[in-house]
Amino acid sequence: MAAKKKYDFTEVLISREQLADKVAELGAQISEDYQGESLFLIGILKGSVPFMADLMRAISLDVEMDFMSVSSYGSGTKTSGVVRILKDLDSDIAGKNVLIVEDIIDSGLTLAYLKEYLAKRNPKSIKIVTMLSKPARRKADIEADYTGFVVDDKFIVGYGLDIDQKYRNLPYISWIKED
Ligand code: IMP
Ligand code: MG
Repeated sequence: MAAKKKYDFTEVLISREQLADKVAELGAQISEDYQGESLFLIGILKGSVPFMADLMRAISLDVEMDFMSVSSYGSGTKTSGVVRILKDLDSDIAGKNVLIVEDIIDSGLTLAYLKEYLAKRNPKSIKIVTMLSKPARRKADIEADYTGFVVDDKFIVGYGLDIDQKYRNLPYISWIKED
């Protein structure tokens, strides 16, 4: 009989307080950088949900928001680079300051594709904010304009990040030890 897979996610890599402080810092920086402008936030489902909810309230500008849902072909913890759009935007972004809100940049393949895809719709500007970044795994030539935390090459969960669709609701970031 195959051993049952068990996940231990009790080790706190980034605490609830650290996440909250970072969101406040990012929100203040973004508010300053776009002073006098309005922003169109695009959250990438589903991982960006907690970050989006916190970040939008830390931004003191006129903000619109929408979500996109994408799926990369490939399974488990692997990304192939081919992106399928499952849910597109509900409205036009032409002439708007777009800020893509992402949970984590790993290979960067998803965001490289999305940024190019959205840039074709003639936004006034297009930038990326990510809560987390794993630069060691980058395959695409892309970086976020705003990054919360740089993390090591470990599979992490919590604050929106999942494994098999679970643990997105952890209020802190942990990492998966498979045993
Ligand atoms: P990329 O195209 O490789 O940058 O893929 C980014 C996406 O993969 C993220 O938006 C996450 O949904 C997922 N992902 C990458 N690394 C992790 C991780 O450590 N834990 C959970 N999801 C991850
Ligand atoms: Mg994601």
